[in-house]
Amino acid sequence: YGTQSVNNLGHLTIGGVDAVELATTYGTPLLVYDIALFRQRAKAFKETFKQAGIKAQVAYASKAFSSIAIYEVAKQMNLSLDVVSGGELYTAVMADFPREKIHFHGNNKSFEELQYAFDEKIGCIVIDNFLEIELIKEISEARQQSMNVLLRVTPGVNASTHDYITTGQEDSKFGFDLKNGQADDAFLKLFNHPYITVLGMHCHIGSQIFETAAFRLAAEALMEKMVEWRKKFKFVCPVLNLGGGFGIRYTSEDKPLPPSDYVQEMENVVLSMTREHNYPLPEIWIEPGRSLVGDAGTTLYKTGSTKTVPGTRTYVAVDGGMSDNIRPALYGAKYTAVSAGKMMDPHLDKVTIAGKCCESGDKLIEDTYLAEPVEGDIVAVFCTGAYTYSMASNYNRLPKPAIVFCEDGEHQLIVRRETYEDIIKLDIPLQKTDSGKL
Ligand code: LLP
Repeated sequence: YGTQSVNNLGHLTIGGVDAVELATTYGTPLLVYDIALFRQRAKAFKETFKQAGIKAQVAYASKAFSSIAIYEVAKQMNLSLDVVSGGELYTAVMADFPREKIHFHGNNKSFEELQYAFDEKIGCIVIDNFLEIELIKEISEARQQSMNVLLRVTPGVNASTHDYITTGQEDSKFGFDLKNGQADDAFLKLFNHPYITVLGMHCHIGSQIFETAAFRLAAEALMEKMVEWRKKFKFVCPVLNLGGGFGIRYTSEDKPLPPSDYVQEMENVVLSMTREHNYPLPEIWIEPGRSLVGDAGTTLYKTGSTKTVPGTRTYVAVDGGMSDNIRPALYGAKYTAVSAGKMMDPHLDKVTIAGKCCESGDKLIEDTYLAEPVEGDIVAVFCTGAYTYSMASNYNRLPKPAIVFCEDGEHQLIVRRETYEDIIKLDIPLQKTDSGKL
């Protein structure tokens, strides 16, 4: 995975840094990012467009992992940024992310969130529904302020992935239906508006997708609609945003293509259809999240108790679990782990890695292999960079882990570990009232 390797002590290294040392320095659980890998992935996406001679924006879908430092790296890499809430937008503002490269998503943006987007003069709002059209019209007219928008549509493509994360099918809470006239109605409500500029369409068909065919079908459906709109309304879309969703390898069972292969499939559709219809080549925008940060992240845990159920299995408990990585419990997600300090150990035991939350389902990996575990070992779970910290909770009032960036043998803390004080910082003790009751 990534630039992970093994040093002469037999320890795992991440971005050139000894993982056991990182665990000692910063404590556990610790989320460690190999930032060189993030940069490599970002470059590869951009390079694919460059080679095809297509103007593009690669927007980091920051719901996968949002923090000031990762936004700073995204800025260095000239990426755009996809945010989905006032909180993510605020984080981007605090990272001084170039506002014109921020795209705002979400199926129920509040009036306040939309106003915030106007305050910050962001690059584009991806409109999801009819209410949002009214809200954006109201804000732009009241302020006499212009705004670029994309219309999110559901192209009716069923990508095969987990049910919870498919989004392109017609029965979806997201976007305007492409086939029953909803998208046309939405467009007409905005076309020729004095302040709102429609840049084009957006779709996102799901996440952790391995098949290029799904992206081809989506691109074709949107291109067909673009051709239709040109004929009907004499409108030419300058932008086609095809979302994210490119799958990565969590275990040896996953067989993803190199991320750029998905993009090439999109490019081929757009190049051939624009040629066929003599349509001006639009800019292609994509929104990778998982494929930029997923395998760049590794979580380090310390092992505690082990329990053997004779004839059944051995549980090895670690000092985190579903509070820092809900994905196994929520999606049945699979991961790969190693014992970071025992990489050369030839003898492996079959174990189940359990978390420390008060729930039987809090198992990080079932039936995996680790060098004979003893208390205090450092277990590294790979590919935990996406949708882990961003979905973390304080279940059982566990403090959220610290996060470290590594690159070329150097390391830096970028999110400090939560403390018990942090955990209670929003609590308000009962106040004494006159009656002594509430
Ligand atoms: N664009 C839009 C509009 C999205 O909704 C998403 C993800 C992305 C881009 C980025 O997709 P990616 O490249 O990361 O696959 N929590 C789930 C994943 C939810 C994805 C939500 N939307 C998980 O842990 O698997």
